[in-house]
Amino acid sequence: MNPTRETFGNIPLSSQLAFYALAAVATGIFCWGVRRRWKLWQLGQPISFREMITGNLLAVWERARPGARRVAVDAVAQQRVRGHGFGTVAHLSLYVGFMALLAGTTLLEIDNIVSHISESLKFHHGLYYVVYEYTLDVLGLLFLLGTLFFCWRRARKPAALGHRATDWYVLLAFLAIGVTGYLVEALRIVWQQPTGLAAHCSPVGLWLAGYFAGLGEPGARSAHFALWWIHAFLVFGFIASIPFTRLFHFVAGPMNIFLAKPSLGALPPVTMEEVEKTGRVGVSDIRHFTVQELLSLDACMECGRCEEACPAFATDKPLSPKRVVQDLKGLMEETAAGLAAGQTEFRALHEDTIKAETLWACTACSACVNVCPVRIDQLRLIIGLRRHLVAEGGLSGTAATALRRMQSNANPWGLPPAERAHWTEGLTTKSTS
Ligand code: HEM
Ligand code: SF4
Ligand code: SF4
Repeated sequence: MNPTRETFGNIPLSSQLAFYALAAVATGIFCWGVRRRWKLWQLGQPISFREMITGNLLAVWERARPGARRVAVDAVAQQRVRGHGFGTVAHLSLYVGFMALLAGTTLLEIDNIVSHISESLKFHHGLYYVVYEYTLDVLGLLFLLGTLFFCWRRARKPAALGHRATDWYVLLAFLAIGVTGYLVEALRIVWQQPTGLAAHCSPVGLWLAGYFAGLGEPGARSAHFALWWIHAFLVFGFIASIPFTRLFHFVAGPMNIFLAKPSLGALPPVTMEEVEKTGRVGVSDIRHFTVQELLSLDACMECGRCEEACPAFATDKPLSPKRVVQDLKGLMEETAAGLAAGQTEFRALHEDTIKAETLWACTACSACVNVCPVRIDQLRLIIGLRRHLVAEGGLSGTAATALRRMQSNANPWGLPPAERAHWTEGLTTKSTS
């Protein structure tokens, strides 16, 4: 017998049509949410998208290649998520499971579409079906395990992690999606009674089906139909909620990774052309950040890695790079809402949002930039703000002395210029960007 199963088996046509209508609504809400965030980022200084796409295809690819490579390595292969103990294991587990389920659902839909063109094009049967079902059944467990770990961690409320009301909604929705997915499979096995490989290629579903065997075919069909709808509602709710929860990191994260300009240890210079053009030095208003810098604020999932790596935070200075990113994000949202309401006065960026003592506590060591999984450049944000303070004359103490010495001796310690790099002797330096 050719192992397979009917797509939308036990689901009447009216429910199938309602399913597609709801899928369209969920996707619409998702796109609307992404567009709202996109409009927020447009508060910032434009970055030249046109420059990126001008010229022939080869030229466009050459320009896009470094960003595309970063997305492939950092986001798709999860390179920068690694190195964080159980957090990494849990994320890899959840991520692999999620991607497998996403790919599986897409393949199933492609099979469904081509089968409407010609039955002979259908590929969801035979050996392919057996491998498909087995892979998804096993990888679905990874998805559940990763989610369970994140639940356990969140319940312990670690200080480094951000906590929002929607966090539990996301994790519990993931658990419910995973569990109802397996229950739907188990009930399908009960009413369909597959045999041989067709049954054994779904080991988890087959095991669960044992608990529902007493329902008989009519009972299993009714329960299957009800649970199928619950599962579908949960998935649509998840899709629609992505832009409004922490899950938005998997949209904004890869976007920021693509657009980021990694330059560990090197800061962009202030040019006279720029000062003449803008009439300012540094950042004194949230709208002075670039579109990419504002987008990067949305990529932050408050994992706390930058805070853990920050020497200023570790020594109880009034600075947390995670907090800086979150405070700027809050101001971006508030300013956009104010503008939409016709306001002309906004909460000040300096002092009301980020205090000068916070900015001066930064040692510019780049540790936060180095560990951020989505390549947010916290240091560049801080330096932009600090440059404004310097331009306004708001510099005192050792920082002012160091600058004066730089001006007179080209050495912040006031020693001869040739001795400026002596402190690096015997050190090995490493760049990971
Ligand atoms: C696109 C690339 C992605 C990157 C770079 C990324 C990065 C991260 C990082 C670093 C964390 C914190 C983990 C830790 O504390 O060690 C996290 C948390 C999380 N990510 Fe992702 N992620 C990505 C994609 C995804 C995808 C596709 C999903 C699944 C739909 C996902 C779901 C989650 C969840 C549920 C959490 C835990 C949130 C919590 O603690 O409540 N991520 N992500
Ligand atoms: S800025 Fe980066 S490292 Fe810091 S909390 Fe946000 S995502 Fe994590
Ligand atoms: S660059 Fe500044 S904010 Fe980042 S880790 Fe170093 S001291 Fe902390």
